[in-house]
Amino acid sequence: MDTPPVSTAITIRRAEPSDYEAVQRIFAGANAISGTLQLPFPAAETWRKRLSEPADDLYVLVACVAGEVVGQLGLHSFPHSPRRRHVGQLGMAVRDDWQGRGVGRALMQAAIDLAEKWLQLTRLELEVYTDNELAVQLYKKCGFVIEGTLARYAFRNGSYVDAYAMARLRTA
Ligand SMILES: CC(C)(COP(=O)(O)OP(=O)(O)OC[C@H]1O[C@@H](n2cnc3c(N)ncnc32)[C@H](O)[C@@H]1OP(=O)(O)O)[C@@H](O)C(=O)NCCC(=O)NCCS
Repeated sequence: MDTPPVSTAITIRRAEPSDYEAVQRIFAGANAISGTLQLPFPAAETWRKRLSEPADDLYVLVACVAGEVVGQLGLHSFPHSPRRRHVGQLGMAVRDDWQGRGVGRALMQAAIDLAEKWLQLTRLELEVYTDNELAVQLYKKCGFVIEGTLARYAFRNGSYVDAYAMARLRTA
């Protein structure tokens, strides 16, 4: 398969129900599974339901290149929790063949803008495996700091893995 040029325009939009097969394909990738809490063999039906019946506290964004969905980001909020209304939790994945080309950066910037400029969220949280250097670098560049290490956070491909708790606090 030809490698698409890095300069190809990346557009970000809200996920639509019809995106479910593309999102399932993202989470079928070995890196995407390894870097997240997803299991191998993702079911299309799971993503069809999640995208067609979205909870009111979840914002799902997708990144598209030439009309094709190549990345996904979920922003969970807590509108029904008076004392956590200012918090958003992020999770994201870029399709394996599109990683390292700016898609994650574009998704994260769009999510930060949505969270801070429109949803009044002042604390954004995420967990990332301590050995996921690419992701940790991306988050640091986007203003997240490491707040602590979560030991044996998850089981991954036969062994436990630690995770960093990272957060970005809106300053202005
Ligand atoms: C982590 C992930 C979301 C990042 O998205 P991405 O599109 O691959 O990242 P980008 O191309 O936008 O790169 C963003 C930054 O990461 C760093 N980066 C990119 N490629 C890198 C590489 N090969 N080595 C080290 N750092 C790299 C750079 O600092 C880059 O910053 P820059 O924009 O100043 O160059 C993506 O790789 C992914 O989905 N991985 C698998 C699933 C996963 O780990 N999800 C995160 C769960 S917390």
